[in-house]
Amino acid sequence: MTEFDIHVGYTHIKNPIALAPMAGITNIDFVRDYAMSAGLAVIGGYNLDDATNEAARSINERGRAEFVTPEPIEHLRGELDRLKGMDDHPTIALNVRSTEIMPLMEAALLAKEYDAILEIDCHCRQPEMAGIGVGEPLLHDLQRLGSIISKIKKTGVVLSVKTRSGIVDDHELAAAIEDAGADMIHIDAMEPGFGADYDAIKAVRNATDLFIIGNNSVTDFRSAKDMFGYGSDMVSLARAVPKIPGVIDDLVRSVTIFQEQTGWYNAPKHICSGGDDRALTFCCLPVKRCALMRVLRRYGMTPQEFADLKVRLSRGTPLELGDNTCFGTLIWCCKLTKPCFMRDAVLGQIGISGAQYMKLKKRLSESILEHLKELPISSAAND
Ligand SMILES: Cc1cc2nc3c(=O)[nH]c(=O)nc-3n(C[C@H](O)[C@H](O)[C@H](O)COP(=O)(O)O)c2cc1C
Ligand code: SF4
Ligand code: SF4
Repeated sequence: MTEFDIHVGYTHIKNPIALAPMAGITNIDFVRDYAMSAGLAVIGGYNLDDATNEAARSINERGRAEFVTPEPIEHLRGELDRLKGMDDHPTIALNVRSTEIMPLMEAALLAKEYDAILEIDCHCRQPEMAGIGVGEPLLHDLQRLGSIISKIKKTGVVLSVKTRSGIVDDHELAAAIEDAGADMIHIDAMEPGFGADYDAIKAVRNATDLFIIGNNSVTDFRSAKDMFGYGSDMVSLARAVPKIPGVIDDLVRSVTIFQEQTGWYNAPKHICSGGDDRALTFCCLPVKRCALMRVLRRYGMTPQEFADLKVRLSRGTPLELGDNTCFGTLIWCCKLTKPCFMRDAVLGQIGISGAQYMKLKKRLSESILEHLKELPISSAAND
C-alpha cells in the first residue's frame, strides 16, 4: 500500500518525486533507464508545430539537444504506447511548446486519453524559441497565457504550467495561472549563483491552492526536504538525474521512510524558521511578540482571535490533551521533528504515534487555512 495520497484531477501519483524535463533527453527511454520509481516523469519539451520544430532544428544545429517532431501527435502517442509494457511506471506529463493553440489542444486530448498530464513550457529561454514567443516570453504576457490555459482546460486535461521564479511577480503569476484554471505549477525556483529560492515557493503556497512542483538544485533528501518545507507538494530533478546514479530511487526511498515515520512528508517549517502559512498549526499560544504577529496582521486577525480559532478547530480531537506541555495542550505544540520529551511523553500516555500526531496537525492546518481563505488579505501574501 502506498504511503502517499496524491491525486490531481484524474491522476494518482504514487510518490512526490518527479523527473523534470530536459529537451532532447527526457523521453520514455530515459524514464525507463532513470526514473521508473518516480511518482511523475515530465518528458519533453516537445515541439508541436512547424515554428517550434524549425526553432528546434536551429538549436540542434548549434549542438544543443532538442526533440524535432514533425508529426508530434503520432510521435507522442508512440511514446505513451510504450508505457503499456512497463509495470508500475510513473504518471507521465508532456512538456510542450507551440505557437498555435490547436496543437496544444490536440496534445491535451492525447494526454487525457492516457491519464497523463499536459505541461505548458513557460521556461525555455533559448533565443530561437523565445524569438517566436514560446517558453519564457509567456510569463510576460499573462493575458495570453491565461487565454491559452483556459482554452486547454476545456479539454478536461490535468494541466501544469512550468515557470521560472524571479522573472515576473511570482505571486501575481501564480494567481493568474490559478484563475485561468490550471491545476499545477512547476516552478524552477532558480536563484542564479545561490541554488534554489525557497521564498518563491512560499509566495506561491501562500497565494494559491495550486499543486506545486518545486524544482531547482534538488540533489539529495536534504535539499528535497527544504523544497517540501516551504510548500511544495512534489519536488522534481533534472540535471542531477543523469549525474548521480540512483538519485531518484534514493529520494523515493527516503521520502517514503520519512512519511512512514512522520506522517506528513511536506510539513512546513515553523513560521519563525521561514515556513509558509500551513505552519500556523505548529504555532505557540500567542503570548509574545514573534514572527506569528506579521502573519496575523496580514489576515487582520488579533492574537486572541487566532487562539480562539485554533481551540475551536481542535475541539473533540486528541490535540486538546497534554496538561504537561508548555501551553497545556498539544494544540500549541511543535512539529514532530523538533525534539521535545514533554510532547512525546504526552503522545505516549494517550497512545498516539508521532505520525498520527502529525496527521492531526495536518488536518488542523487545513482547517485553519480554509478559515483564513475567507478573510480579506491586507497585503501581499509573502511577508
Ligand atoms: C539540458 C536541459 C534541457 C531542459 N529543457 C527543458 C524543457 O524543454 N522544458 C522545460 O520546462 N524545462 C527544461 N529544462 C529545465 C529543467 O526542467 C529544470 O527546470 C532545471 O534544469 C532546474 O532543475 P535542476 O536543478 O534539477 O536541473 C531543461 C534543463 C536542462 C539542463
Ligand atoms: S508562535 Fe511560536 S512557532 Fe509560531 S512563529 Fe512564534 S515562536 Fe515560532
Ligand atoms: S511542549 Fe514541546 S512541543 Fe509542545 S510547545 Fe513546548 S517545546 Fe513545543
